[in-house]
Amino acid sequence: PETGCLSIIVLGASGDLAKKKTFPALFNLYCQGFLPPDEVYIFGYARTKISDDDLRNRIRGYLVNDRSASPSEDASKFLQLIQYVSGSYDGAEGFQLLDKEITKHEISKSSQEGSSRRLFYLALPPSVYPSVCRMIRKYCMNKSDLGGWTRIVVEKPFGKDLDSAEQLSSQIGELFDEPQIYRIDHYLGKELVQNLLVLRFANRFFLPLWNRDNIDNVQIVFREDFGTEGRGGYFDEYGIIRDIIQNHLLQVLCLVAMEKPVSLKPERIRDEKVKVLQSVLPIKDEEVVLGQYEGYRDDPTVPNHSNTPTFATVILRIHNERWEGVPFILKAGKALNSRKAEIRVQFKDVPGDIFKCQKQGRNEFVIRLQPSEAMYMKLTVSSLVHNSTSLDLPACVKQPGLEMSTVQSELDLSYRQRYQGVTIPEAYERLILDTIRGDQQHFVRRDELKAAWEIFTPLLHRIDNGEMKPIPYRTGSRGPAEADELSAKAGYVQTHGY
Ligand code: BG6
Repeated sequence: PETGCLSIIVLGASGDLAKKKTFPALFNLYCQGFLPPDEVYIFGYARTKISDDDLRNRIRGYLVNDRSASPSEDASKFLQLIQYVSGSYDGAEGFQLLDKEITKHEISKSSQEGSSRRLFYLALPPSVYPSVCRMIRKYCMNKSDLGGWTRIVVEKPFGKDLDSAEQLSSQIGELFDEPQIYRIDHYLGKELVQNLLVLRFANRFFLPLWNRDNIDNVQIVFREDFGTEGRGGYFDEYGIIRDIIQNHLLQVLCLVAMEKPVSLKPERIRDEKVKVLQSVLPIKDEEVVLGQYEGYRDDPTVPNHSNTPTFATVILRIHNERWEGVPFILKAGKALNSRKAEIRVQFKDVPGDIFKCQKQGRNEFVIRLQPSEAMYMKLTVSSLVHNSTSLDLPACVKQPGLEMSTVQSELDLSYRQRYQGVTIPEAYERLILDTIRGDQQHFVRRDELKAAWEIFTPLLHRIDNGEMKPIPYRTGSRGPAEADELSAKAGYVQTHGY
């Protein structure tokens, strides 16, 4: 691993994202020894005029680490590594001061061999990305003679449609090279998302099955059981498609659908993801259902007549040899009946079924991303049970005696049971570590981003122009009934329980 001084600069340090995600992730990395105090220093930068201690006090309550033997002592030591600098996002003065402070720290560590590394984390709204990047480029780049690097990390939303995203990309692209830019999609840091390629390409089971001959449909679902909660103003400008589907769910789709990369080099993996995105056909209006939960507009920051969807089901179709004819049903919603993110791969029915038990549901492979990470397969097996109340399928229940009957069962890998005592790292933790290590595999490349916007921009424009309206749904429900009807029409068969 690289050595030498590492400065991590969190811009937007007094904001929500920094407080809830960035600093806690840094703290977890610190507790595991990934941020050695003799090499690392952390700077918070924002407009608010506060002291170092003010910032430390603001974030202290969010630093939780169940892997640490003495969490509060660790938190205190970690907080001592943080210094605050205040300044504007477009003026020279603040960034000159920031550079001075970083350099001071680098000089104080100069007894160490090695280069100096500067990681700028923009926990900021994208409207200020261009000016902040300009300031960093002008005043705050790594100047060490011993080498090292300057990298920037940016968060979604990267634009609002194809044009604005491309504009943003070119503005940043004029200042930094692609290998210096880390576009975070935190879904790519989730344990089971990171597992997808291994699962698909290291298991003989899946190789012959993973195609249109065997798979009937794929559903990728995100549900939250709470509404926009204080983020109404932000959310209303973007809506569920820009907030969740165009990025998080589409990234998952890429990993489910892509061809095997020629190697695990980040560029080769991202090449394959781009190909999938470029093969997606234009979305048809009749394959979209939009919803808005009742009560959404009661939020004072949301306009009374808002047309913004808080729920959407969108069917994507991939035009290639592997996937022609297989619907990818992407579904996301706020204020629903549960909190869950999962991938459900439904296989086709067995031809020439002699057991007459197709009603019990299909073979299905489910990857539950959260909560309670798990992978399980639904299979049909010979039944041991004859308790007709345990299954809602009287026609397929075993009769007393030795008759053959079948039941649907699971082959289950639940992470909490299988890996007891092992803490699954937070998405942000892994991704920040990747930025320090210089591994771009789990970050979105510029051409990927462009292709993702190309898919959704026409639909988003129709929604923005009021040509498509969301259907109201009750808070705590499954979303509009029309969405279930659409999934069923696409071939999805609702399975039972589990
Ligand atoms: C964010 C969205 O990207 O992801 C939020 O902006 C959403 O609206 C969040 O709540 C969900 O993340 P997770 O990791 O809790 O599923």
